[in-house]
Amino acid sequence: MPKSVRQQVLDLTTSVSPKRIENAQTALDRLMHPERGIGGLATELHVPHELLFLYELAYGCWDDDRRSYGHIIQAGVHYGVTLCMLAQAAEKEVSPYLVYGIDPYQPQDDGDGYTYPHTEAYAGVRHTISQLGLANRVCVCCFDSATFCEQLSVMFPVRLAFIDSNHTAAHVTREIRSIEPLVNPGGWLVFHDVFHTKLPEFSHVIERWICDNEHRYDKWLRLRKYPEEGHEFSHIPMSTVACRKKW
Ligand SMILES: C[S@@+](CC[C@H](N)C(=O)[O-])C[C@H]1O[C@@H](n2cnc3c(N)ncnc32)[C@H](O)[C@@H]1O
Repeated sequence: MPKSVRQQVLDLTTSVSPKRIENAQTALDRLMHPERGIGGLATELHVPHELLFLYELAYGCWDDDRRSYGHIIQAGVHYGVTLCMLAQAAEKEVSPYLVYGIDPYQPQDDGDGYTYPHTEAYAGVRHTISQLGLANRVCVCCFDSATFCEQLSVMFPVRLAFIDSNHTAAHVTREIRSIEPLVNPGGWLVFHDVFHTKLPEFSHVIERWICDNEHRYDKWLRLRKYPEEGHEFSHIPMSTVACRKKW
């Protein structure tokens, strides 16, 4: 019997894109610069291979010959580590499209019992965007991501949507419902923290969505956060999952 896409996604392990590029490492080095970037916080909050992966997705390394068009949307910005990686990739192309980071910057439980420090994080992302010269490309919107996207018309073109905000089942359900229709053919819908053992209900919503939508998407990637055997967290299958909408 052929494997379901869900099982294929579970079995997948992606690490290096077909076109590993120096730009991605340069972007990471800029982001990690102690004065001009965000410094060590970048890799305290994320592992480097996740950041390179996101850059390469936004840069088109995982596309085939055709490239989708539109804005990049990120739900859940925090200090802007991943936002600034996506924006550095977007900056490489001449296009009228922007990178939107959406985060209410309000104290609230994120679904795993952690409340994010918001004032400091908002100041941090503004500072990093300005230091990296990304202010013309990036727009940080202080909103609930689902409410924000529900207000957008389906005419608002999106080529990549990255979901890393409130990890409750209710919120991600609303996000998928409002963001997914905006993603253009050939565009990417990307989820962070899938299969996290502490977030079973959140993962369940995404697994359910994968099962229901395998006919509408033609490329599935899964990047494990801790792929190395023997790593203290390698038993946690937490992953970034990226899905490409069919043309
Ligand atoms: C895991 S952090 C995001 C990390 C970020 N992607 C990065 O690069 O470091 C989660 C963020 O989601 C935000 N958040 C919580 N509820 C949200 C909501 N309803 N809409 C959008 N963002 C939300 C939190 O304020 C927090 O900054």
